[in-house]
Amino acid sequence: MNVNELTPLFNFAEMQPRQRNSNGLTGQDIISVSQFDRDLLDYVFARAREMRELVQRVGGTDILKGHVLTALFYEPSTRTSASFIAAMERLGGSVIPITQGVQFSSVSKGETLADTIRTLEQYSDVIVLRHPEMGSAQVAADYAEIPVINAGDGPGEHPTQALLDLFTIREELGMLDGLKVAMVGDLRYGRTVHSLTKLLLQYNVSLRFVSPEILRMPLSYMNQVIDAGVDVRETHDVADVIKNADVLYVTRVQKERFSDLAQYEQVKDQYEITAELMTQAKAKMIVMHPLPRVGEIHYNVDKDPRAAYFRQVQNGMFIRMALLAAVLGKA
Ligand code: NCD
Repeated sequence: MNVNELTPLFNFAEMQPRQRNSNGLTGQDIISVSQFDRDLLDYVFARAREMRELVQRVGGTDILKGHVLTALFYEPSTRTSASFIAAMERLGGSVIPITQGVQFSSVSKGETLADTIRTLEQYSDVIVLRHPEMGSAQVAADYAEIPVINAGDGPGEHPTQALLDLFTIREELGMLDGLKVAMVGDLRYGRTVHSLTKLLLQYNVSLRFVSPEILRMPLSYMNQVIDAGVDVRETHDVADVIKNADVLYVTRVQKERFSDLAQYEQVKDQYEITAELMTQAKAKMIVMHPLPRVGEIHYNVDKDPRAAYFRQVQNGMFIRMALLAAVLGKA
C-alpha cells in the first residue's frame, strides 16, 4: 500500500482540538520523538518510575478501567506489542490485539489503512500502530480522532522505544549529560537509532556511529547531529569506540529493509560483542540492544552486569504504562 495515495477526506482545520492538560500529552498522538522536550521527558520518566514502583508493590491498578487499546501490527513484534498489552492490562484497561496475522483481517481483502483505522477507532480509545511504511503513523493519526501511537513506521521512527532507551540510560548510569554513546550496526535502516539519536541531541552527549559503509547513519540525521553542535565521529570498527563508551547501543541488521539480499549477506555478521571484547570496556558502562538480537551480542555477555538489554525490556513496560496513562488523561 502506498500511504501517499491516502488523501484525507476531512477538513481537519474544522475539527475540535483535543483536550490538553499540563503535561501536553492528553489526547495527543505520539508519532515522533520531536514532540518531547526535556521537561516532557522528565515528566514521562517520573511517571515511569511511579509505574515501576506500583508494579513492584502491587502488580497494577485500575486507572484505565473501561478503556480499550487496539494494537494493530502490520510487522512482526514481540516486545513492543507484548509490553503495550501488559502496560494496558496492568492499568486495568483491555486490548484488541491485531498483532499477528493481519492476513486474517480485512487488510488482506484490500482495506486501506485509513478505513481500518476509522473502523478500529469506533471500538477503542487509543491505537498503537506498527506499519512497514515510513510516514504511515502520521497518515493514520490524520484520519483518527483518537490518539495514535507510532510503534515503528518502517525505517522511520520508533518513539516509544527511544523513550525507554533514554530512560534505561538515565536509570542505569544516573545521568544523561556528559555521556559518550556509541551506536553499532544498522544505522541506515534501524528506526530505534534514528529516534534515539534525535532524543539525545537535547543533551550534552558525544556520539560515535559504528557501521559498515552501506549502513551509515542517513545524511538527514547526520545533519541534525552536526547542526546541534554535538561531538560526533563515524567508524567501521567497534574497537575504536569500546574503551571510552558509556553506552554501547547495538542493533540488528534490518534484513527486511534490503531489496538486495546479497548485500544483506555481506554485512550481516560484521559485528559481534563478546565477553572478550567487553574486557576492553569501562567498568561502569552499559550494553544495550532493542532486541531481537541475531548474533550481534554473544550469549557470554549476558551474565556481565553491564549487559542492560533485558532490564531495558522491562523499562519498556513502565514507559508505555506512563504514556498510556498520560495520553488517556489519567496523569
Ligand atoms: C526493534 C524494531 O522493531 O525496530 N525492535 C523493537 O521494537 N524492540 C529493533 C529490531 O527489530 O531490530
